[in-house]
Amino acid sequence: MNYSKIKPTKKNPISVVNGDTRDLIKSLPDNSVQCVITSPPYWGVRDYGVENQIGAEPDIKDYIKDLVEVFSEVRRVLKDDGTFWLNIANTYTSGGRKWRQKDSKNKNRGMSYRPPTPEGLKKKDLIGVAWMLAMECQKEGWYLRNDIIWHKPNCQPESVRDRLTVSHEYVFMFTKSEKYLFNQQAIKEPTADGKSTRNKRTVWSVNTEPFPDAHFAVFPPSLIEPCMLSGTNEGDTVLDPFFGAGTVGLVAKSLNRKCIGLELNPDYIDIINKRIS
Ligand SMILES: C[S@@+](CC[C@H](N)C(=O)[O-])C[C@H]1O[C@@H](n2cnc3c(N)ncnc32)[C@H](O)[C@@H]1O
Repeated sequence: MNYSKIKPTKKNPISVVNGDTRDLIKSLPDNSVQCVITSPPYWGVRDYGVENQIGAEPDIKDYIKDLVEVFSEVRRVLKDDGTFWLNIANTYTSGGRKWRQKDSKNKNRGMSYRPPTPEGLKKKDLIGVAWMLAMECQKEGWYLRNDIIWHKPNCQPESVRDRLTVSHEYVFMFTKSEKYLFNQQAIKEPTADGKSTRNKRTVWSVNTEPFPDAHFAVFPPSLIEPCMLSGTNEGDTVLDPFFGAGTVGLVAKSLNRKCIGLELNPDYIDIINKRIS
């Protein structure tokens, strides 16, 4: 696709493009976006119901390879002083199950496929997929600058009896260079006594927010606001290569940033446009 059709403008600051991110991202020029904020599909957790969806690879190695390839394109299009914020969680092996029933509280958890247990792991093992991916990105040349814990005070209850309920995910902050745009002042937090401010800490307590139109977890805007505020100035462009319901676009609009969103599922494009307008 021609970049002139994708490039956000003052008149149309949020540009939404439907297609496979692996193809679309190739149309974006080198060093053209200031910041990338994204949450890719997690491995074997959701069925987005579209061909070529990432996350449905039977082998976890292929999943990591697919994402690392997308993120190496992300590195190409990111400006040298840009930041890349990646939200991802660890998951458990499916224990040999071939499908997952709909949950009475969360009907969208139903899945027609479950990936097999990765080589070397066992039934019930926690797969450190978030860290596997982070380490691969580091090998590819990314600087890993922070592992932020997204603590979810209102996390989904789990019916497990032999381990703790998982109430966190990660937001990895990567950069392309040693020195980069990071507006620390914009995201300072109050000290415990409330009398002054301090550098923002790496545990962020943010409630998940329901979004009935989408069949997947969307970003709570307050999770990504600090990423955008510290990683960009007004007027800069932010990219989300897995746009989903377009939360990054929504936040970009509210903070006077431009945004490019790439999304595979054509059904989500209407949801995004409705939400952003
Ligand atoms: C976790 S959701 C993103 C949710 C988003 N952060 C939000 O707040 O709405 C991941 C998205 O990636 C999309 N996706 C999966 N494979 C893709 C591909 N190959 N190209 C583009 N998008 C893809 C899915 O359709 C889904 O909408």
